[in-house]
Amino acid sequence: MIYLDRIFEGMNFQNEIVKWYKINKRELPWRNTTDAYVIWLSEIILQQTRVEQGLPYFNKFLAHFPTVKSFAEATENQVLKLWQGLGYYSRGRNMLFTAKQVMEMHNGVFPIHYEELIQLKGIGDYTAAAISSFSNNQAKAVLDGNVFRVLARYFGIEEPINSTIGKKVFSELAQRLIEDQKPSLYNQAMMEFGALQCKPKSPLCTVCPLQLGCYAYKNHKVDDLPVKLKKLKVRERWFNYFVGIKNGKILTKQRQPGDVWQQLYDFPLIETDGKPDFEEKSFIESMKNTFGQNVRVTPLMQKKHLLSHQIIYVQFFGLDNYIVNFNLHADIKSVLLEDFEDLPHPKVISDFINLYLKN
Ligand code: ADE
Ligand code: SF4
Repeated sequence: MIYLDRIFEGMNFQNEIVKWYKINKRELPWRNTTDAYVIWLSEIILQQTRVEQGLPYFNKFLAHFPTVKSFAEATENQVLKLWQGLGYYSRGRNMLFTAKQVMEMHNGVFPIHYEELIQLKGIGDYTAAAISSFSNNQAKAVLDGNVFRVLARYFGIEEPINSTIGKKVFSELAQRLIEDQKPSLYNQAMMEFGALQCKPKSPLCTVCPLQLGCYAYKNHKVDDLPVKLKKLKVRERWFNYFVGIKNGKILTKQRQPGDVWQQLYDFPLIETDGKPDFEEKSFIESMKNTFGQNVRVTPLMQKKHLLSHQIIYVQFFGLDNYIVNFNLHADIKSVLLEDFEDLPHPKVISDFINLYLKN
């Protein structure tokens, strides 16, 4: 582990961090408990927001659901209502799922071992390390943005924190550093040091107890570390196309401006936020709403279509027993099959025509 060589002689990184923590730490309610459920609540909320904004949410959740059992008995609406304002609502929904898993898989006793925690929905490496160290003093190093930053700067790690090699380097180093420490105390100390002292912008280097051994400080690289690879944002979309053919005519729709393939002709479409779930109420409602109560659908082919900044997962369904109210759904038209083939189509549609509609 080459980075350990960079520890300044006679200076002990972990001791200084812990010493700093004991003097500078904030009093936070989830630090005065070893209840894994309570720690889980706090960690999920704090993944979504900052400590100051998270505090009232934490108190609210705990007041409503003092135990994992009471949480598991909540309705989705209750959870989402309490979660309101935090954003990214699937995280709130996932919490309910996790609580129910704890009831079923662990008889309502929230697990405290990393290996069990990591099996639960919505609990990844970071959360499992946090809960198992805070509740059970298991020596699992937490790696959140704060910890990445402190390690990258102090040890001078130039590997991007979100590259494969980087993740390995950071987690090996972090794990090596926690091994002879009190895990709960040390993990909290690392996160707090990153949050208050070794901050992203304007870290307090001039009054930092680690200054003498800090690679970034000595080499004027504080602003350059940690390194993070910029990811091109690729938008994922799910297009569910419905192919209805009756009496030699086929249902079609012209795409409107403001989105991909404008003016081209495709099929009636339901776009979903993820892989379509055929059992999902809103999906079924949506189909019945357009194609009548008695409609039957058969999944046909699937295709992944790549655009420069979008991945479109296309799923075609065949329609049977459908009725379309063309007054209500004025964008949908019924045209003769031979006319349809002559219209301009996006490539996914013409590929489909070639495979399914030409004999
Ligand atoms: N951010 C995430 N987890 C935290 C914790 N346990 N204490 C303070 N800030 C945090
Ligand atoms: Fe962070 Fe600055 Fe301290 Fe180095 S000297 S650990 S960069 S606050």
